Amino acid sequence: MLSLYQVEKRAGGRLLYEGVTLRLAQGERWGLVGPNGSGKTTLFRLLAGEEEVDAGRVTRRGDLSLGYLRQEAVGAADDTPLLVHTTGSHGELATVEAALAAVEARLAHGGSRDELAAWAAEQGHLFERFQTLGGFDLEARAEAILHGLGFRQADFVRPMRAFSGGWRMRAELARLLVAAPDLLLLDEPTNHLDLASVEWLEQYLKGFPGAIFLISHDRTFLNHLVTKVASVEAGAVVTYRGNYDAFEQQQAERQVLKQQAAANQERQIRDTERFIARFRSKASKARQVQSRVKQLAHLERIEVEHDSAAVHIRFPQPPRSGRLVVEMAGVDKAYGDVAVYRHLDLTLQRGERIALAGPNGAGKSTLF
Ligand SMILES: Nc1ncnc2c1ncn2[C@@H]1O[C@H](COP(=O)(O)OP(=O)(O)O)[C@@H](O)[C@H]1O
Ligand SMILES: [Mg+2]
Repeated sequence: MLSLYQVEKRAGGRLLYEGVTLRLAQGERWGLVGPNGSGKTTLFRLLAGEEEVDAGRVTRRGDLSLGYLRQEAVGAADDTPLLVHTTGSHGELATVEAALAAVEARLAHGGSRDELAAWAAEQGHLFERFQTLGGFDLEARAEAILHGLGFRQADFVRPMRAFSGGWRMRAELARLLVAAPDLLLLDEPTNHLDLASVEWLEQYLKGFPGAIFLISHDRTFLNHLVTKVASVEAGAVVTYRGNYDAFEQQQAERQVLKQQAAANQERQIRDTERFIARFRSKASKARQVQSRVKQLAHLERIEVEHDSAAVHIRFPQPPRSGRLVVEMAGVDKAYGDVAVYRHLDLTLQRGERIALAGPNGAGKSTLF
């Protein structure tokens, strides 16, 4: 369906990928993991054709439909109402819809008998195609998806520009789900979602017929959805079978094996060096010494990556605060007509650990 072959990619003067080969097949569920800045988003941009490889090649099946949710997705901010935006222009359905409108206009305008018959036949075919593509239940599906992602009925007719960035990202996600492409590339889709929406999305994606490639730092989300993990490791993409937990276990096992191999090699190198040092000045051993020197020079050293360089940071002990850290009494807060808090009382005591929960837009950030 979509594959990378021996791909090399540089960004900002740095080699991100070298010799990356990867094949995505129909209906597969992949997670893409790796440290921040390791090139996950860049890999998606390569898959989506938004960025060119420096070497190697990307092959896409000719008729592949691809939906790409960008990490910094902002979505449109125009006058289009949310529901129209969500059901809007995607692929063949939009083409069929436009063709239907055109043939209807011709029929209304009139023509010769032969023309009218031909147009009516064309209209019949288009209707059939429209139905096959799910045109009739499109709106119902879009509404269900929008509800699932936390929108309310009243939002459906609001223009896109009336939504905040976070909500426009949800609208973009909804549009992609409605379009149901062969492959969904989702770059950290849960970042802007509240818990209820994350759970809904997880359920929805479980039933999604297409392939999914997912960048996420949400272990539970990955565990529930993916059956393969691609991990960016020192410029390579290593693939693992199973969900995120399985990936971690295999990676730990690999790491242990690699450490053992590195330790063995280290021992071998030391033995060789000792041999060289000992017999260097002996004419009778000159050839053996030479060959060992060569051997050492050509040895490919096993590199063991360390999780990360250790950083030591000290924070000076702060002076002790009072018992009462924060006190709010009878606080009101509104943005224009939207009342966020009314008569809010809140006290925080030293040492308390509190989670602030609530749907998006409830006022959590405002409280902070
Ligand atoms: N257009 C660009 N120009 C320069 N550097 C870039 C560009 N795109 C990405 N990078 C760099 O490439 C690296 C990988 O970025 P990215 O793919 O966003 O990583 P990730 O998604 O894993 O956090 C980063 O060091 C980033 O700064
Ligand atoms: Mg990224």
